[in-house]
Amino acid sequence: MKAKIIKNLNNVHAFLINFNATNTVHHMKRFFIALLTAALLCGCSTGNPRQVEDFNFDWKFQLADDRGFAAPGYDDSSWRNLHLPHDWSIEGDFSKDNPSTPSGGALPGGIGWYRKHFKTPAGIGKDKVCAVEFDGVFMNSTVYVNGKEVGTRPYGYSSFSYDITEYLNPAGKDNLIAVRCDNAEQPNSRWYAGCGIYRNVRLVTTEKTHVAYNGVFVTTPEISADKATVKVAVEAENMSESDRLSFKVLDMDGNEVAFSQEDCFEIASPHLWDIDDPYLYTLIVYITADKEICDIYTQTFGFRSFRFDADKGFFLNDRPVKITGVCLHHDMGCIGTAVHRRALERELGILKDMGVNSIRTSHSPPAPELLQLCDEMGFVVMDEAFDIWKRRKTRFDYARFFDEWHEKDLADFVRRDRNHPSIVMWSIGNEILEQSDSGDESLDNLSPDEANFLLNFSDPDKRNEPVETNVNVLLARHLAKVIRDLDDTRAITSGCNHVDNSNNLFNSGALDVFGINYHDVQYDTVREWFPGQPLIGSETASAINSRGVYHFPSTTLEVLPHRGTEGIPTPIPEDNQLTAFDMCRVPWGATAEHAWYAVREKDFIAGTYLWTGFDYLGEPTPFPWPARSSYFGVVDLAGFPKDSYWMYQSEWTDKTVLHILPHWNWTAGDIVDVWAYYNNADEVELFLNGRSLGKSSKEGERLHAQWTGITYEPGTIEAVSYKNGKEVARDSRTTSSEAVAVRLTADRDVISADGYDLAYITVDAIDAEGREVPTANDMLHFSVKGAGELFGVDNGNASDTLSLKGSDKALFSGKALGVVRSLKGDKGTATLCVNAYGKDYEINIKTQ
Ligand code: GAL
Repeated sequence: MKAKIIKNLNNVHAFLINFNATNTVHHMKRFFIALLTAALLCGCSTGNPRQVEDFNFDWKFQLADDRGFAAPGYDDSSWRNLHLPHDWSIEGDFSKDNPSTPSGGALPGGIGWYRKHFKTPAGIGKDKVCAVEFDGVFMNSTVYVNGKEVGTRPYGYSSFSYDITEYLNPAGKDNLIAVRCDNAEQPNSRWYAGCGIYRNVRLVTTEKTHVAYNGVFVTTPEISADKATVKVAVEAENMSESDRLSFKVLDMDGNEVAFSQEDCFEIASPHLWDIDDPYLYTLIVYITADKEICDIYTQTFGFRSFRFDADKGFFLNDRPVKITGVCLHHDMGCIGTAVHRRALERELGILKDMGVNSIRTSHSPPAPELLQLCDEMGFVVMDEAFDIWKRRKTRFDYARFFDEWHEKDLADFVRRDRNHPSIVMWSIGNEILEQSDSGDESLDNLSPDEANFLLNFSDPDKRNEPVETNVNVLLARHLAKVIRDLDDTRAITSGCNHVDNSNNLFNSGALDVFGINYHDVQYDTVREWFPGQPLIGSETASAINSRGVYHFPSTTLEVLPHRGTEGIPTPIPEDNQLTAFDMCRVPWGATAEHAWYAVREKDFIAGTYLWTGFDYLGEPTPFPWPARSSYFGVVDLAGFPKDSYWMYQSEWTDKTVLHILPHWNWTAGDIVDVWAYYNNADEVELFLNGRSLGKSSKEGERLHAQWTGITYEPGTIEAVSYKNGKEVARDSRTTSSEAVAVRLTADRDVISADGYDLAYITVDAIDAEGREVPTANDMLHFSVKGAGELFGVDNGNASDTLSLKGSDKALFSGKALGVVRSLKGDKGTATLCVNAYGKDYEINIKTQ
């Protein structure tokens, strides 16, 4: 009889050296790893007994609820056909009456069912077993196979797997899997969460003896330039004492660099993983019984070390690295939460170019693809588990499941994610109300908008129960222990907004790194209260801006919404738009420049996670409906950068930056200001139609050059940056005439015909001479012909209530976006057609 064996190994922090290589080589190498993984996973040419089937296609969907939908004989012929990942919420219409509220994105919830017929894989009933793996279902999912309930999972961000062998009909026969998703009880989230089977699903068939779901843990306890140790802990199902494990390691070129029958072995000259050189290895685990291979399982991993120092911040591979990070929610703009790897890759690419080197997965476990991309593209990650523990922030949120589910959700999260070299911190929660003991903060009766607002104010006078008997302290310790028992190689942190020396989490001893949300004026005080404690700005900024909108004078700080006790209220703009000059913030936040400067100047603050990299659906602070998505992003919801993007790029990268704002389409006689973000230069000179308006440079925490009170005249405004008197760069804006046409530009003109790949097409309004018109807001009509489908439209306007899945979308500040998705197996040409200004404009995307 075969028993379940768990091999536990101790993990030790590793100390490494630095190494560099080029990114181009990495692209090819990544391709190799992808091929290898695909080959091994699907068991193709390798004779792998593990068969991993993409289980996303051929589902039926119905937004309705009836327990009878689980029955195999139910007639679902009238249901919609679709393929996963799928988010039904994004397909609905925005409405102030949707129970999610504008804070939750103002899109519909409800209860939906998915059904799929499939054949029982060969070998089931003999020596094979079958599991279905869900990366995430939002939310409260219940899975049925052939009418029988298999399991339920409330937390919509958890990944899970069910062994469905006993529910299946004999090999070759038809089966029915049905999934009920219940997102009816709302509000349950402070941001847009999406609905449905929004992440990938796989059907996995293995021998009875096999590596368990997420059952491999690779650590690299010792690393030097000459050699590194690899330790592998394997959890296997039905493995007997006579069965053998063996391990092979391949480098990125596919060369075998180690083979071992021991679970601890060495490789020579390890190539380190780093943010500038994200080098990955592939571990292959074999289980052999009687000389027959019964499972082959692959796992990527990397060699790197890191540490947090209370005085000097973060070190990666023994090199000090300031964490220049962003917080990200999980939606991908107009495609909602339906996980498409290309959407995430595009997002991370735009952020990488800005100089971002880290992602905080605020405030929930992300899609596995996001972490794979962070491994491959070189980001370090703060992987966050919860926004809520026992005390709720919205009426129907996770607090109602916490007691029963938190241990399983947390443990499954760590087991799933612990092999990613990108992850350096686990966060046990964001702005958890249990930071303080006051019982009156349950926010039970508040709308999510009110809760979001209040959460940002905590009362520093509140004093907590003594540490040793304090249930909230004990809870923090308990959560940290759940993590450390599974992985003691990462730092544990939490984003804390109750910045007070009585904070239960600060006092619990559970945190390796204190995460401070906002409150940058208290960085020094926290350091005095807790000497020797590593600190990080786990959430910073919360500047609020609209792309391409400018308020003058640019020197007036706008603080919205008004807090009630401070200064003269900033009037709420009636057009639901905020200035793109970095002079607008929420009361608890800071402008982008201020927040970054506060971190930049203090070595003991390991880094910053600004709120947020991209705009996200929901939380449209400071506006009520019709605003329905955030203004916090440095990049708007469509993926177009707001001007602060170049402030970060000038501070966070070495590439030469010179970016001026605003556009140059004003009315003659207007009094306007000009800012310039720049680097690699000492000063910038501004010219209006060739006349110098003088030089300016950064000053202290003002991280831009500026010229105020300019009398506008049409023409060209041009900036020139100089270093030691020598010209470094130029940037200019020229007045354009009225928009008469559009220009279409695709991010890629060839995509894969796999039904998942996406092309993002930017639409720019242009005048008769082909100059961009940054003020154009005219209506467009989108359609797609041929080998693709229109998958989303957007313009970055946070208060535009037209659907993001429709075919009409207006330009906003001169731009819009169309997203084309390929159709599985349809190789040819997808043509995006945009009707604008009475004409059709087309762009072709090849699908292959
Ligand atoms: C923080 C919170 C975020 C978001 C942000 C807006 O306090 O952690 O989830 O609400 O405020 O400024």
